[in-house]
This record gives sequence, structure tokens and C-alpha cells, in this order.
Amino acid sequence: MKVLLTGGTGFIGSHAAVRLIELGHDVEILDNLVNSKVEVLDKIKEITGVKPGFHQVDLLDYEAVREVFKDGGYDLVIHFAGLKAVGESVEKPLLYYENNIEGTINLLKCMRESGVKKIIFSSSATVYGDTGETKFTEEMPVGVKISNPYGKTKYMIEEILRDEAVADEDLEVVILRYFNPIGAHESGLLGEDPNDIPNNLMPIIMKVARGEIKELKIYGDDYETVDGTGVRDYIHVVDLVDGHLAAIKKMKPGVLVYNLGTGRGTSVLEMVKMFEKASGEKLPYEIVGRREGDLGEVIANADKAKKELDWTALRTIEDAMRDTLNYLSQN
Ligand code: NAD
Ligand code: UFG
Repeated sequence: MKVLLTGGTGFIGSHAAVRLIELGHDVEILDNLVNSKVEVLDKIKEITGVKPGFHQVDLLDYEAVREVFKDGGYDLVIHFAGLKAVGESVEKPLLYYENNIEGTINLLKCMRESGVKKIIFSSSATVYGDTGETKFTEEMPVGVKISNPYGKTKYMIEEILRDEAVADEDLEVVILRYFNPIGAHESGLLGEDPNDIPNNLMPIIMKVARGEIKELKIYGDDYETVDGTGVRDYIHVVDLVDGHLAAIKKMKPGVLVYNLGTGRGTSVLEMVKMFEKASGEKLPYEIVGRREGDLGEVIANADKAKKELDWTALRTIEDAMRDTLNYLSQN
């Protein structure tokens, strides 16, 4: 297939590019590089032997996106592009609504114009909101009590995709709700390399380990969890990407929704201990107050993807930590 990856130079998109090329697909990337670097294309080539076609285009630039689609001949779009910093979205909601929603509308308009009928969308566990649940199935309500504009954009885009699939009954949509992606490519060439200060746990742990941040601040130890610290479902980025490959095979007209997680939860303190074991170093930390908008425990029920896609996450958190350390030692 000829596949267009929006956001394909980013953390998850770059790993997807590698897997798709390895399977023999013709991959092109559209990205404005707001949160990634053009060198990623050479890294993809180093791993696969193929440098994907690249369009440095902003999804907000409708005419430029149209140009990409004009002679594109794409069979499938995987839509990774978006801004994703939860805290920043609270400070700059309009930036997030404009970038993520308007960008998606432009993309869908161009897909419609050029007859592209398949799209996979990167959604997030955050669409489930604060409902008091800890383990989420795809049938549970979404869009309720979402604590930040970023999460709301993901929910709204899901709704736009559903409406578009009603209007165009040939459209094939897969919504994938990612839990907490971590890790890096085993080659050490690709990983998570945010352009600004990270706010996710793994990148922060890595910065503490490198002495760039003095200590890890653990946001709260009074949740109703195994040790009081926040519990999440961490999934290796390569497993996450394999979930997309499994979903491609099942695409059909209409909308399919899957959680991509492991079904297992790990607390922040457990993550610290695992990191210390993997690296042989002590990780300095301090317990501070809860972070606004955080939930105590968020875990995927991953049964639907297992049953219908025959996909399950295979890699462990230790694998992800080893791969991330390897990536950092090379970069
Ligand atoms: P990332 O920031 O590494 O990649 C996103 C890419 O999109 C970047 O390369 C960025 O330059 C590009 N981009 C942003 N706005 C754009 C625009 N207007 N036009 C063109 N390109 C644009 O993030 P990631 O971790 O790889 O996430 C990929 C997708 O998965 C995002 O949509 C994100 O919201 C979603 N997601 C990520 C996580 C996570 O924890 N990493 C969890 C759930 C969902
Ligand atoms: N945490 C700390 N200290 C830190 C950073 C995080 O204790 O410095 C804790 C958090 O409180 C939470 C856990 O580590 O308990 C994970 O936090 P992350 O920020 O890494 O991840 P979140 O679960 O808060 O959110 C992430 C992405 C969202 C995405 C969501 C999907 O940031 O974009 O996963 O579940 F929507």
C-alpha cells in the first residue's frame, strides 16, 4: 500500500514508518517539524535502507496539504500529527483546538477530494475522562469530565470521524486509543526526543538520570493504588505500532475503535525501582502534591484488540527502559 503518515517524523510515527517500510509498503511523511527533526528521515533510512518521501507541510495550510494529495495516490492515511502536551493545552487552548481539529478537518477534506478512503487516527486514553473507573473498555462512555483541552480535541476528532463515516459510507476509520507509549527502537536510532521540556514520566526519568534535572518529582502518594502513587499502562512503542499493523488488516467501511495498552498497571514508584534495576543507578526523587488533572489509575482493558485484531503487547517495561537507555547513550 501507499501510506501517508501525518506526524511521521515524531516519536510514534517514525517507528510506524520503519515497520511499514519493513513490510514493503510505500511510505510518505507529512510533518511541519514543530516537534520533531528532519534527521529522523536519515535514521529511518539507516534502519530500513529506504528514505521515505517527505513533505514539510503544516496541516493548517490547506492549499499545501491539497498539493500533497493531488498526485499522492494514497491508499491509507495514518494521522499521528498533533500537539500533545497536556499542560500547554491548558495554557493555550486555542492553539490546541486550531492545530488538532482544524488540521484534521483539512486532512479529511483533502482525503475526500482525492478519494482516499482509509484513515487510522491516534486517539488517547484521556478521552475516557474522570468517571471513577480504573480499567477502561471501548464501550465505556467517552467525552465526560475530560480535564484538559488536549484530551477534548481527541474526543472531538473521534466525533468528527464518526460523522464523516456516516456521510461517506465507503470511508474506513480506525480509532486507536493509546495508553502510555514508552521505549525506543532497538537500534538506538529512534526514540522520544521532544523539542521542549518533557512532562511525561519516562522522558523526565531519563533527564534525571543524565543529571539534567535534579530529581524526579512524584506527583502524589495518596491515590488509592498499590503504593499511593499514580498507576498507568505503559506500552512499548514498537508494540503500539504493531497494533496499527494488525488494525490495517481488519479495516472495513465504518468505524472501529480499539484500546492499545497492555492491560497491566505500573505505579510511579515501581517505575523508579525498575529504572534503578535496569541502569544500576539510584534515581533521586521527592514526593510532592498531586498534579492537577491527573487520575489515580488508568489501565486498558485490551481484550477487544486481542480478540478481534489478534494483537497483544509482547514487550516489557524493562525492554522499554533498556531500549530508551540505549537510545540516549547514542544520542
Ligand atoms: P510527537 O510530537 O513526537 O509527534 C507528532 C508529530 O506531529 C510531530 O512530529 C509534529 O511535528 C507533528 N505535527 C504537529 N502538528 C502538526 C501540524 N499542524 N502539521 C503537521 N505536522 C504536525 O508525538 P507522538 O508521541 O509521536 O504522538 C503521535 C500522536 O499520538 C499524537 O496525535 C498524540 O496526541 C497521540 N498520542 C500520544 C501519546 C503519547 O503519550 N505519546 C498518548 C496518546 C496519544
Ligand atoms: N508523573 C510523576 N512525575 C512526573 C511526571 C509524571 O509523578 O514528573 C506521574 C503522573 O502523575 C502519572 C504518571 O507519572 O501518574 C504518568 O504521567 P505521564 O505524564 O507520563 O502520563 P499521563 O498518563 O498523565 O498522560 C499521558 C500523555 C497524554 C495521554 C495519556 C493517555 O501525556 O497525552 O498519557 O493515557 F493522553
